[in-house]
Amino acid sequence: SEEFLTLGIESSCDETSAAVVRGGKEVLSNIISSQVDWHRKFGGVVPEIASRKHVELMNPVIDEALAEAGVSFADLSAVAVTFGPGLVGGLLVGISAAKSIAYAHDIPLVAVNHIEGHIYANFISHPELEPPVVCLTVSGGHTDLLYFEDLGDYEIIGRTIDDAAGEAFDKVARVMEAGFPGGPAIDKLAKKGDPEAIDLPRPMINDSSYDFSFSGLKTAVLNYINNTKQRGEEINKADLAASFQQAVVDVLTAKIMRAADDKGVDNVLLSGGVAANSQLREQLQEKLEEQGKELYYPETRICTDNAAMIASAGYFNWQQNQEAAGYDLNAEPNLQL
Ligand code: KG4
Ligand code: ZN
Repeated sequence: SEEFLTLGIESSCDETSAAVVRGGKEVLSNIISSQVDWHRKFGGVVPEIASRKHVELMNPVIDEALAEAGVSFADLSAVAVTFGPGLVGGLLVGISAAKSIAYAHDIPLVAVNHIEGHIYANFISHPELEPPVVCLTVSGGHTDLLYFEDLGDYEIIGRTIDDAAGEAFDKVARVMEAGFPGGPAIDKLAKKGDPEAIDLPRPMINDSSYDFSFSGLKTAVLNYINNTKQRGEEINKADLAASFQQAVVDVLTAKIMRAADDKGVDNVLLSGGVAANSQLREQLQEKLEEQGKELYYPETRICTDNAAMIASAGYFNWQQNQEAAGYDLNAEPNLQL
């Protein structure tokens, strides 16, 4: 109902986040404390540091989410928490906090799959949106192409057979020394580069499946860097970023377009961190428009990890099956959709 307030908690990677959502889609607060500065010098997320930071930040972030929403613990109707996939240490911090709140205030504890959370971000940003849709959830940990007619009932039509697309962005950025986190750094660099400057492979683009592969592309970039250095030549980082990004976007776009056609849908969704990529949005939008189809993606702030999407997914899960998790809920680092 209108007054159903869900506290969402997210700690699967390097964002400590808490949010209060009214009903399923009205975000009253969404506090996101990024640990990116603590991980930057290591060029990647260090699990042990992430766990410790989540412990430090969790309670203050929850307090801030409640304060900003103007509510207290006693007003909450449910608490929803990410229980996987992700880094086990971080997940456990969020789960422990959620269990304590659920127990102390006698409200349901709802376990949320992080990938499903990313899907719900779209329905927060576009409350009128209705399935059936084709949806690409693409982030640092997963690249899944989905079709669904009902929320909660997802058909996975394709996924990566090796690296996630975001992981490829992060690894390529690392070898290029382009900055951390890699995705936004490459996105920015690419704007100043020529996407046709360097010839890179588009793995599996013509394969009849909807699966993806990005590790060969990553290797091709690595080889290009090594060969160029061996010749004693300078690497044009902007051109390399643009060419790499174009290769990823071409593959993602080709498969999404074919899936939308096969499934006969008019609406296509992007979700997960890589949904923030400007070239992916632009190119896909253009191609879909040519066919009278529409592209949706969440506002940039809720594309990447945040607790509002977890609260929203938790609310709808609870409304659908009224199934609370037990106090023995455990983290599932390799949870799939
Ligand atoms: O959803 P998310 O915050 O965390 C996971 O669930 O993994 O996604 C993070 C991923 C990272 O790999 C990051 O490099 C990528 O999303 N990312 C981007 C962009 N912004 C974030 N990749 C490409 N372009 C972007 N603008
Ligand atoms: Zn995520």
